[in-house]
Amino acid sequence: MKILVVGSGGREHALVYRLAQSGHELVCAPGNPGIEALARCVAVKVDELDRIVDTARAEAVDLVVVGPEAPLVAGLADKLRAAGVPTFGPSAAGAQLEGSKAFSKEFFARHRIPTAPFEVVTDMAAVDAVIERVAGPAGRVVVKADGLAAGKGVVVARDAAEAREAAREMLEAKRFGDAGARVVIERFITGREVSVLALTDGVRLEVLPATEDHKTIFDGDTGPNTGGMGTVSPSWAGDALVARIRSEILEPTIAGLAKDAISYRGVLYAGVMVDDAGTPWLLEYNCRFGDPETQPIMARMKGDLGAVLLGAAKGEMPVGALAWDARVAVCVVVAAAGYPSTVRTGDPIGGLDAVGNDVVVFHAGTARKDGQVVSAGGRVLGVTALGISVEQARSKAYEAVDRIELGGKQVRRDIGARKARA
Ligand code: GLY
Repeated sequence: MKILVVGSGGREHALVYRLAQSGHELVCAPGNPGIEALARCVAVKVDELDRIVDTARAEAVDLVVVGPEAPLVAGLADKLRAAGVPTFGPSAAGAQLEGSKAFSKEFFARHRIPTAPFEVVTDMAAVDAVIERVAGPAGRVVVKADGLAAGKGVVVARDAAEAREAAREMLEAKRFGDAGARVVIERFITGREVSVLALTDGVRLEVLPATEDHKTIFDGDTGPNTGGMGTVSPSWAGDALVARIRSEILEPTIAGLAKDAISYRGVLYAGVMVDDAGTPWLLEYNCRFGDPETQPIMARMKGDLGAVLLGAAKGEMPVGALAWDARVAVCVVVAAAGYPSTVRTGDPIGGLDAVGNDVVVFHAGTARKDGQVVSAGGRVLGVTALGISVEQARSKAYEAVDRIELGGKQVRRDIGARKARA
């Protein structure tokens, strides 16, 4: 099969890596230097929707797999389907689950999917009263810009004053432009997070092994939030909990989408908080594969992912066709100096080939300059290792990470080191 993968990050490198193992012919728009080894990269950017459609048609691909959320929210999957191209990725209407926090929270409430109490505000006059109503006994809220804000639109406020200031920055100072014209204020829930990704054709679900991300930049879950500094899969969440997430969150979502007549053929990525009593609460949906969740998932996957994604794209997804390496995978992100604020780019990267067995270095923010691979983004690489235990996988991953040469590199040293449930 000939497959076009849209995107240029670590997630797309991991997808291409997996698809290449089943012998598919791969084209990637635009790709990155790591992907170049496995796919023919074409210089088409992810926001050039019409050019992506033209490329899919000119290349006569059998399937397009869309990586990032922004083109999905902008309607890329609808355009591709209208052009007759089977596409793995939800419609713009379905992508609203990620593209609008207000839409998604109202969807969860309408379909009785367990989620934290919330209200939507559009002006500052209402904010103080809403914070007080929503905060509950813990007295804390999370403030979320409604629209896409490059991963920066969520503030976990320490108190009411901080929540008010976050809402003011969004609503009045227009920090995120139109994306902050509506703001969701929701109750803060304590617990331990888990990412559960499921492939779907809008009817059937293929739930992938649960994965744990490490969101902040520094060890011990401190410092500002990032897109994710490392992952472990399978995660601490056992089968019984994942079964509960499936029946209480994912299945009602599929039923709700059908009831609301929203087409959804793609990934449902549930960000779930499991509270101290073991109850799962849906924090948010993403309408795409997670990054860096995809890296350990693809490192463990066996079976023909291309056939499953094509089935989903056509509304006839085979279920149970994927198998899993019994080992654990750990992905450690190597980030650039300055990340997650002002990122330094253009630094040469060395040591990429000095990796041991069962280790894959997925490229994320890299570019080629004068024949040399250089940094080109905040998260530069996702070093992913398999081991018979989390300890062995992390030790192999860190061995490879320590051989990577990148000036000012930032690495969390505690990926996979959380012990008890938080
Ligand atoms: N790892 C977080 C995300 O993909 O949004």
